[in-house]
Amino acid sequence: MLLESDVVTTLMRRKPDHSLAQSLYCDPGVFQVDLDRIWYREWLFAIAACEIPKTGNYVVHDVGTYSVIIVRGSDGEIRAFHNSCRHRGSILCKAKKGTGPRLVCPYHQWTYELDGRLLWARDMGPDFDASQHGLKQVHCHNVSGMVYICLADTAPPIDEFASEVTRYLAPHDLENSKLAYESTIIEKGNWKLVWENNRECYHCAGNHPSLCRTFPEDPRLISSDQSGELDSLQKEHRQRCDAAGAPFAHKISALGDWRFVRTPLLDKAESYTMDGKVAVTKPNSTLPFRDAGALLKFKYPGSWNHFLSDHSILFRVTPIGPMETEVCTKWLVHKDAVEGQDYDLKRLTEVWIATNDEDREVVENNQRGILSPAYQPGPYSPTHEGGNIQFVDWYASTLIRAITGRAEAMAAE
Ligand code: FES
Ligand SMILES: [Fe+2]
Repeated sequence: MLLESDVVTTLMRRKPDHSLAQSLYCDPGVFQVDLDRIWYREWLFAIAACEIPKTGNYVVHDVGTYSVIIVRGSDGEIRAFHNSCRHRGSILCKAKKGTGPRLVCPYHQWTYELDGRLLWARDMGPDFDASQHGLKQVHCHNVSGMVYICLADTAPPIDEFASEVTRYLAPHDLENSKLAYESTIIEKGNWKLVWENNRECYHCAGNHPSLCRTFPEDPRLISSDQSGELDSLQKEHRQRCDAAGAPFAHKISALGDWRFVRTPLLDKAESYTMDGKVAVTKPNSTLPFRDAGALLKFKYPGSWNHFLSDHSILFRVTPIGPMETEVCTKWLVHKDAVEGQDYDLKRLTEVWIATNDEDREVVENNQRGILSPAYQPGPYSPTHEGGNIQFVDWYASTLIRAITGRAEAMAAE
């Protein structure tokens, strides 16, 4: 089992532009370091705000050994609290989702307001101070309808990310959306393999027959391509989107932890459907045309998203174990869209349900192959796997900085 110092050494010895060492994909010690230094420190996408539209609606999201309640208060604010009673620590909310006027502990019925204040605790004596026993708060930020949480005592800055989300998502109305469908699958692979698979489409042609009907494999469309080789049709599309208030340009953060880019779909396809036409006739965007392509967003380590003209798809990644990862997919449609009338659920979800399952299989095969004693890190394709290079560079620099307090290059001295 590797310790933090071993992880730093392993990362500093890595071959540039190659996949990571075997231990980083399977060792329980590395998994704990990943939790402590990344998952318990970074902002993580948890839920869409529209999943808890009313006072008292809550969702529980577990990350590692933490359990977090995300609840809408009577003032309309969304807050997050540790799901651990201030009496003797029982879980407060046992269900994954629910509604209540207050949060009541199932053990001895300590009762909390939706803003976390302890309201009632029976027979605790004259010296008991309820104000000192409110629920412990978790950092929580509703960014344009997407709720992010951070488990750290001091959360990293989120302002620049939040303002870019607001700018890029301006045409996409997540607040006036609803959850049409949610799927949760477990992939028997390390969370980094799930991300690496997401960050390239080198595997798409060979694995994703449904997705490849509409999603372009050309990596230049989803990177910061400056070659000028994109044809005039794409330039025209870019101008059309920009003019409609739908930013198109590739934008990545200085730390490399988030990115936005809008890509046209193949042959003027409108959405991720089998025939390329919209899946929802009452769109949750204000885009004036249907073939606006997909706004692709990622925020390491917890989510990637696709925003289309007619609906939005939010993917949430949660590490379960060294070689086990949960992928939760949420399809959001306009809140007034009626199933069977404005959309057909199968048509809306079938492409990504199939794609997720295909991705699960390739990730699991990847993990199994890496477990072989014969595995050695292999080279990423410079044409197709720039996203993987970016991801592992982010991972290495984030961990080295968190553990040593120094940037990667300096740590190598
Ligand atoms: S542990 Fe919650 S009321 Fe006792
Ligand atoms: Fe895939």
